[in-house]
Formats: sequence, structure tokens, C-alpha cells
Amino acid sequence: MSSTTPTTTSPSPLKAPQHILSLLSTLHARSLEQESQLSATGKVFSSTVLGDLEDKKNSSTTSTTTAKADFDALMLDKFIALDEDKCHFTYQLLTALRATNVVEAGTSFGVSTIYLALAVSRNMAATGKPGTVIATEKEEQKADVARGYWRECGEEVEGVVDLRVGDLLETLKEGLPERVDLLLLDIWSALALPTLKTVLPRLRAGSVVLADNTISGAEGYKDLLAFLRAPDSGFTNVTLPYTNGFEMSVYAGAE
Ligand SMILES: C[S@@+](CC[C@H](N)C(=O)[O-])C[C@H]1O[C@@H](n2cnc3c(N)ncnc32)[C@H](O)[C@@H]1O
Repeated sequence: MSSTTPTTTSPSPLKAPQHILSLLSTLHARSLEQESQLSATGKVFSSTVLGDLEDKKNSSTTSTTTAKADFDALMLDKFIALDEDKCHFTYQLLTALRATNVVEAGTSFGVSTIYLALAVSRNMAATGKPGTVIATEKEEQKADVARGYWRECGEEVEGVVDLRVGDLLETLKEGLPERVDLLLLDIWSALALPTLKTVLPRLRAGSVVLADNTISGAEGYKDLLAFLRAPDSGFTNVTLPYTNGFEMSVYAGAE
């Protein structure tokens, strides 16, 4: 047996045509660039600040309306894309689950959605099952941009995404698949638990819920994490050590 130790991490697990890989690199770079530009101009853009803004937005003080409008305006042209390594993990997990039905809470310009769609398309081809990626975005103009990127990717992506535009607590009320394999919570933290409760009746035994930034956003996610971690929740949980935390919860199924 060789004693050579590998010195690099694995290459990307993603199987996709070069034009999609190039597009994803460009979009991740733009997302990171936006974050650093905002930091440089003093408008620090981090999950902590995002959390503060969210807290203000969700508070019941008289300035709530202004804070919410400010927050929405600030976010309108922002990718806030799921980190590339988390996207790779999610793609890999979907492959392991052979997932064909996925719900994404929070789509923005649709970067993470591209990974979800690529995995679901491959799983559909491998299993012969139908499938879908339900994407959700409240801002019409962000949804339009996302559709453009998916079109650029081609049928493998565009063909499996069902984008619901509007408040996801409304748009997810109907038309969910019978059995959902994975729910990605990449949404303002106050919406995470209500979203989970909306999708929960459709989660299959062995399905996975992923929630982003659960370490840095632990305060905002307090209710979600308490729900998931309650002894009788039906979930087992692990906080993956990606930047700012990435919670992976496996659902055992309804009693
Ligand atoms: C963190 S971003 C999603 C990033 C995306 N998953 C990606 O990796 O590219 C969260 C998005 O959720 C959207 N959002 C916020 N509240 C929403 C709601 N009530 N219904 C649907 N989308 C909402 C925001 O407009 C924002 O674009």
C-alpha cells in the first residue's frame, strides 16, 4: 500500500458542461465581489449585519417599516449566493439521496438553484423518475434575472425548475410534490421555521433539511434550531463546519 498522503482536496463533484461551470464561477465571483465592495464602502455585508438588519426588520418598533424597506432595497441587486463549497456539498448530497424533488427557500439570482437542478436532472435520468426543483423568490426583478441564467444553462437546468414568485409562505401552500427529498433553507432566518412547517407534511422519511449560516445566525434561527433539536422532533441534526455553519437535519418521517 502506498504511504503517499494526498495533498489537495477533491476536485468539484459537479458534472456539467463547460459553459455552466464557467457561468457558475462568474456568478460566485460576482457575489463575493459585492460582499467585499460593501465591506470596503463601510456598508459591511456579513451574515452578522444581515442578522442585525433582519432583527430590525422583524421587530415591532415604529421604525419597522423603514427598516424593512431599507433592507429590501439593499438586497434587491445582491446575489448573496450560497458559498461554492456548500453548493458542492449540496450537489453531492442530492446525488447520494438520488433526490428528484427539491424545494429551495430563497432563490435570489438562482445560483444555488443551478446546482439543485443539475443534480435533479441527473437523478431523473438515472432513476427514470419525474422530478422538479421548486424555487422561490419574492422579488420579480431578481426572478427575471435568475430565469435568464437558467436559460443560458440550457434544458438540463431550465427544464426542471418551477419558480414561484411571491412570498414563499403563500406560493408553497399548494402544488408541492407528494414526497420532497430535500429542503434548502437559504432565506431570511425569521422565515425558516414557518417555511419548514409548510413543507414538513411532504418531507419523506430520510429526507434532508439544510439551513445556511446557522452558527453566525444562531440568534435569528433560535426558533428553527429549537424545533429541529427538540427530542421528539423526528430530526437528527449536525452542524457542518462550513463558514458560518450549515445545518444538516435528517428527517426520520412522521410517527
Ligand atoms: C440568501 S438569498 C438566496 C440565495 C440563493 N439561494 C443563491 O444561492 O443564489 C435569499 C433570497 O430570499 C428572498 N426572499 C426573502 N423573503 C422572501 C419571501 N418571503 N418569499 C420568497 N423569497 C424571499 C430574498 O429576496 C433573497 O433574494
